[in-house]
Amino acid sequence: MSGRLEGKTALITGASRGQGEAEARLFAAEGAKVLLCDVLDDEGNAVALAIRNDGHIAHYMHLDVTDESAWQAAVDHAAQEFGGLHALINNAGIGLRKPSMLKTSREDWQRVLDVNLTGPFLGTKAAAPVLRDSGGGAIVNIGSIAGYTGHFATAYSAAKWGLRGLTKSAAMEFAPWNIRVNAVHPGIVDTPIIAGSDDFREAMEWMTPMARVAGPEEIATVVLFLASDEAAFVTGIDVPVDGGFTSVGAYRQVLQRALAQPGSKI
Ligand SMILES: NC(=O)c1ccc[n+]([C@@H]2O[C@H](COP(=O)([O-])OP(=O)(O)OC[C@H]3O[C@@H](n4cnc5c(N)ncnc54)[C@H](O)[C@@H]3O)[C@@H](O)[C@H]2O)c1
Repeated sequence: MSGRLEGKTALITGASRGQGEAEARLFAAEGAKVLLCDVLDDEGNAVALAIRNDGHIAHYMHLDVTDESAWQAAVDHAAQEFGGLHALINNAGIGLRKPSMLKTSREDWQRVLDVNLTGPFLGTKAAAPVLRDSGGGAIVNIGSIAGYTGHFATAYSAAKWGLRGLTKSAAMEFAPWNIRVNAVHPGIVDTPIIAGSDDFREAMEWMTPMARVAGPEEIATVVLFLASDEAAFVTGIDVPVDGGFTSVGAYRQVLQRALAQPGSKI
């Protein structure tokens, strides 16, 4: 690794597994001190220990991203134990694959918005002053391609669309503090959040031009770029990392279906 985050500290939510774990491992390998936060304490402690065993600096801390006072404690921990904070990765999220709005209860709706949208809002509020006092830094919000289209999981899609607005508003407000705020929008990624959804996964692979799911490391490398000084003039943007799903997925299938017709006319 090339030390692309040497001298930096990072707080990553949802870091006990999946993409957050991949980001924590990559950031540490690139030289960052990493504070892993999650509600899965055993898994998070195990990942932090594994990172330390590789010779890097990592702490784990329980943080429910919907808890405002817990956010302050996490940010204070990074500032006091690591001497500052340079990157916040709002990665924690929950899915809700209910293929009908009519079957989505108000409680479902509220819970998904709380974790996926209010969490990053609370995190941004808590972290921004510390990022400023650390000389500036980066916030990367993990959205979804469900924030680009209509989607069968209404609450999830609404939260991820909202996260794009939060990203741009925060980018505007915090640019004078030298804080950049960007969003990464994964397509389908091989993590526990899609466990047990084999038919959905297969259909997504069929619709994705690159015809496969991503590994969590393939998302983490893009998050790393946006968190690093290599992206020093990049703020307020949305980056889909989706194997072409949002850009060309539909027309790929339109073309294939049209060409499959006998004597096809296109
Ligand atoms: N895997 C995909 O296909 C996919 C696609 C698009 C977007 N995403 C997004 O990527 C992000 C990471 O998801 P993943 O794929 O790694 O799934 P995952 O389920 O493996 O990881 C999510 C992590 O968030 C944590 N978490 C959940 N609620 C929390 C809370 N209230 N406070 C703190 N932590 C909490 C979980 O414990 C878990 O460790 C999420 O925001 C998700 O919406 C995932």
